[in-house]
Amino acid sequence: MNVMAFNGSPRKKNWNTVTLLNNALEGAASAGAETELIQLYDLNFSGCISCFSCKKISREKDGVCAVQDDLTSVLDRVRNTDALIIGTPVYYGAESASTRALLERLCFPYNKYSKDRKSLFPRRISTALIYTMNVGQELLGTLGYDRHFSITKTALERHFGTCELLLCTDTLQFDDYSRYESEMFDREAKIKRHAEVFPEDCRRAFDLGVRVALSA
Ligand SMILES: Cc1cc2nc3c(=O)[nH]c(=O)nc-3n(C[C@H](O)[C@H](O)[C@H](O)COP(=O)(O)O)c2cc1C
Repeated sequence: MNVMAFNGSPRKKNWNTVTLLNNALEGAASAGAETELIQLYDLNFSGCISCFSCKKISREKDGVCAVQDDLTSVLDRVRNTDALIIGTPVYYGAESASTRALLERLCFPYNKYSKDRKSLFPRRISTALIYTMNVGQELLGTLGYDRHFSITKTALERHFGTCELLLCTDTLQFDDYSRYESEMFDREAKIKRHAEVFPEDCRRAFDLGVRVALSA
């Protein structure tokens, strides 16, 4: 069984999103999965260009994005994977730009414009979304983040299969808060939370990885 994960943070090492993804993949590997982490910010690719090649009646194959760039071979491999885990920081209340571009290219070719809205993806697979963000849990509803997360979750469910959501809030943003303009944050509280709560978030990510792999 194969699990593909995507890091939608430009911070590729040791930071919040990639750390949680690595934990999730360790969990998946402990359940016997072969795992792969794709760094989106190492790839040169665009979002959907609205060419509608994937909707042409004369198309040769279903579910193929016509755009040729670094994402093309990755999307080819998605066809054969057993599970997908997408991790992203929240940027302005949504996924990072590269994650949005991935989601468009990943989902739209399988989005059948038929009355039954049936997905063109040939199988049902497990998926998961991991979001990391500065704000605390208590603000998710007020800011409308939970609504946005649920829209993306529903898209993955519709196109691919079950989707589990993991939210990691109130993250550490800088290694040394004294070097950055950051008066709006309670620096000590951030550092304390990172030491005390983030390890628990990592454990939750590990367990998510186990579940994703076992249900694949
Ligand atoms: C351009 C930018 C926009 C951001 N917008 C938000 C936001 O709208 N809400 C939020 O809670 N955090 C926001 N953040 C903070 C990040 O989501 C947060 O620090 C995240 O955990 C970073 O993940 P990383 O450590 O994996 O890079 C933003 C950060 C950047 C760089």
